[in-house]
Amino acid sequence: MEYVSRSPEETRQIAARLAAALRGGDVVALSGDLGAGKTTFVQGLARALGVAAEITSPTFTLMNVYSLVGPDPTLKYLVHIDTYRLKNEDELLAVGAEDYIGDPASLCLIEWPEKIPGLLRGKNLATVSLAHTDPATRTICITKKHLSGV
Ligand SMILES: Nc1ncnc2c1ncn2[C@@H]1O[C@H](COP(=O)(O)OP(=O)(O)OP(=O)(O)O)[C@@H](O)[C@H]1O
Ligand SMILES: [Mg+2]
Repeated sequence: MEYVSRSPEETRQIAARLAAALRGGDVVALSGDLGAGKTTFVQGLARALGVAAEITSPTFTLMNVYSLVGPDPTLKYLVHIDTYRLKNEDELLAVGAEDYIGDPASLCLIEWPEKIPGLLRGKNLATVSLAHTDPATRTICITKKHLSGV
């Protein structure tokens, strides 16, 4: 599905539509250049899933984990990962990411997924690609979920 967003809030609303289709164990891979709107998209998903905390970029922490108390009791964690500063996959393992990626109680949202192919192999992936068209406009392409690497 392709969408055109003309504001950060519209990007959050597009993200919210995806929320209902996601299940525990799913991984959302967010691709796009610096400032494309990946974190903004995560904010919309998190809001739709009932996260009250402000979502900020985990560029320095690598991973932020939010507890979920939404209608799906099996879905316990929203995990926001940003691999931009990562040098290798081991650095992400060191902060415990493996416990969450693909875990049935967790929904993982990953910025710069291209940097960790080994950790995404075989996971149930949805892919979101964001591209600048002008300063306020983004095209957002959401693919169907698929099993990568199979
Ligand atoms: N239609 C739009 N959708 C999303 N963001 C927009 C839009 N128009 C303008 N913006 C601006 O673009 C920026 C997007 O920043 P955001 O942190 O979400 O990007 P990012 O892809 O996560 O970047 P990074 O790679 O640095 O993590 C924000 O400053 C936001 O206000
Ligand atoms: Mg970001």
